[in-house]
Amino acid sequence: MSVSPRKILVTSALPYANGPIHIGHMVEYIQTDIWVRFHKMRGQTCYYVCADDAHGTPIMLRAEKEGITPEQLIAKTSEDHQADFRDFAVDFDNYHSTHSEENKELATSIYLTLKEKGHINRRTIKQAYDPEKNMFLPDRFIRGECPKCGAKDQYGDSCEVCGATYAPTDLKNPISAISGTTPIEKESEHHFFKLNDFNKYLHKWTRAGYLQNEVTNKLDEWFESGLQEWDISRDAPYFGFAIPEAEGKYFYVWLDAPMGYLASFKNYCEKNNLNFDDWAKADSDTEMYHFIGKDIIYFHALFWPAILHGSGYRTPSAIFAHGFLTVDGQKMSKSRGTFVTARTYLNHLNPEYLRYYFAAKLSGGVDDIDLNLDDFVFRVNSDLVGKVVNIASRCAGFIKKRFDGQLADTLHNEELFQKMINCGEQIATYYEKRDYSRAMRDIMALADKANQYIDENKPWIIAKEEGKDNELQAICTMGINCFRILLLYLKPVVPKMAEQAEAFLNINSLRWSDLNQPLLKHTINQFKPLMTRVEKEPIEAMIEESKENLAPANSSPTSGPLADNPIADEIQFDDFSKVDLRIAKILKAEHVEGADKLLQLTLDIGGVTKNVFAGIRSAYNPKDLEGKLTVMVANLAPRKMRFGLSEGMVLAAGPGGKDLFILNPDEGAQPGMKVK
Ligand code: MSP
Ligand code: ZN
Repeated sequence: MSVSPRKILVTSALPYANGPIHIGHMVEYIQTDIWVRFHKMRGQTCYYVCADDAHGTPIMLRAEKEGITPEQLIAKTSEDHQADFRDFAVDFDNYHSTHSEENKELATSIYLTLKEKGHINRRTIKQAYDPEKNMFLPDRFIRGECPKCGAKDQYGDSCEVCGATYAPTDLKNPISAISGTTPIEKESEHHFFKLNDFNKYLHKWTRAGYLQNEVTNKLDEWFESGLQEWDISRDAPYFGFAIPEAEGKYFYVWLDAPMGYLASFKNYCEKNNLNFDDWAKADSDTEMYHFIGKDIIYFHALFWPAILHGSGYRTPSAIFAHGFLTVDGQKMSKSRGTFVTARTYLNHLNPEYLRYYFAAKLSGGVDDIDLNLDDFVFRVNSDLVGKVVNIASRCAGFIKKRFDGQLADTLHNEELFQKMINCGEQIATYYEKRDYSRAMRDIMALADKANQYIDENKPWIIAKEEGKDNELQAICTMGINCFRILLLYLKPVVPKMAEQAEAFLNINSLRWSDLNQPLLKHTINQFKPLMTRVEKEPIEAMIEESKENLAPANSSPTSGPLADNPIADEIQFDDFSKVDLRIAKILKAEHVEGADKLLQLTLDIGGVTKNVFAGIRSAYNPKDLEGKLTVMVANLAPRKMRFGLSEGMVLAAGPGGKDLFILNPDEGAQPGMKVK
């Protein structure tokens, strides 16, 4: 009996087009990609689409700051994002942009349908307005003192110190983060989506099994406080789609963002001759799943189903929310070097380490997941390298050398083979439920069994005994078959390694249905190590690099030097007086092999020599520095860097890139002098 394949459309949340992909994002894209690859291996018809989320004020302002058009900014970011995803083996069927023709059409037609059905309201509201910049200010672009605890420099919507949430009009001494002026209040007409029209529908929908229980419970809080009308318009200037028949009004970025899922798929359908309506219309027999982070549940579990339902589109089959990534138990932090971009990770480490590690941690719920760097090393080495790859390397050599690559024609341990394939359905169920950690646990338990089998049968001893060729071939063939099964199970998680293994095994791309077909009387290829152990050094180097490229915060709105480098937390005089600043003479300055930002400086602070790595390479020809004076922090604890020990820090001021200000030796300063 053949069952017809399921038709599944899968999405991950659309990353904002104003910043790089980081390893926190990767939790989601890896989680989704594993799920999609699993379904494809199972023979389902499954499409995975995504796009850049290209609209909104932050993108508009960022482009302005960089002196380019928003279109140029989003084109560049899209390239970077796609390169990151490709290199992490996140395999979208289509990657589009919310700033696309398809999305414009969709957003406009959905809006008009909703309007026609009476679900759009218009009314005038008062909002903060920057009279210098001539624009309304989104909450995040107003800063001031928290009305509750008085903390300074807080956002317009919530306080990072005491956690209070409030309206921007409640802030004390507010200023515009764009121009620094005091905002005024100004009236403007806005368009609202009447979410409350769908109260009953949503009440039922959110309890109908489309959501995780934790999510339904969270939504209850929102139902209790009553569903509010949703403001879906913004005033010019805004980078987005113009609202039809409304001069100077644009759709709020979050209105057309989820529509971007459908727009990306529509774009795919057009290129591949699929009927979009079959998938998108209300009576569709297809499935649609959205993977999202827990911070954007409100948009996906309330607004989105209401909008789809209200405009005649199909609603999601489920929404899968996940938690946030922490590193070593703490929020990703730029100063600790744990805010690691996808690219920085890739500069140092194999992407499949992270894919495996996340898989080993993900359980299908909304709990945060922690990347513990020691555990990361341990897991990858002990599981992937120590258990899985090891099986192949223990057997492949004998088969190649002694039997010309030819496998035996029977299975040496039929029972073990059966045991291994019998676990397949359970592992598949875990994948389906996104309980990857259980799947990985079961797969590794099977790897243990396979290694135990090899330990017991000792091919390396049999190999030395006379007349035991058949036995040796049979044992190693059994080992290779165990390896093939494990690889098949792991393939959604480590697709690149699986591909190399397929080349080594000399087989076609593994599908789930190949499970019970052992490889017998078959010739395999030369074994090459499929994955090497992860070492500590590249991890340290990755953290260092993340500190080095302390980039401006994604949504940092102000222009000028403070925007790129906001003033750090306040310190007390005591903290400051601990810093011992000394005049230092630059004895030697050299380039550092493999570091494009660093110079290695040998400094004399009055008889004591210090070795310092300074991130000022772009500014100087090292030879010009020798003999000059600078100021250094002489008592900074030495820091181990990838290139050696750094015993302090030099202070340099200037616009960066060039013209840092240093002292000339004839100005009376002497090495070792204290700087006051
Ligand atoms: N543009 C919106 C989504 C629109 S979907 C119609 C957005 N973009 S985002 O770039 O901020 O985030 C993209 C996804 O990555 C979101 O699902 C978000 O929850 C997730 N993550 C962002 N940072 C994350 C972590 N530190 N950890 C785990 N997931 C994280 O939101
Ligand atoms: Zn506060």
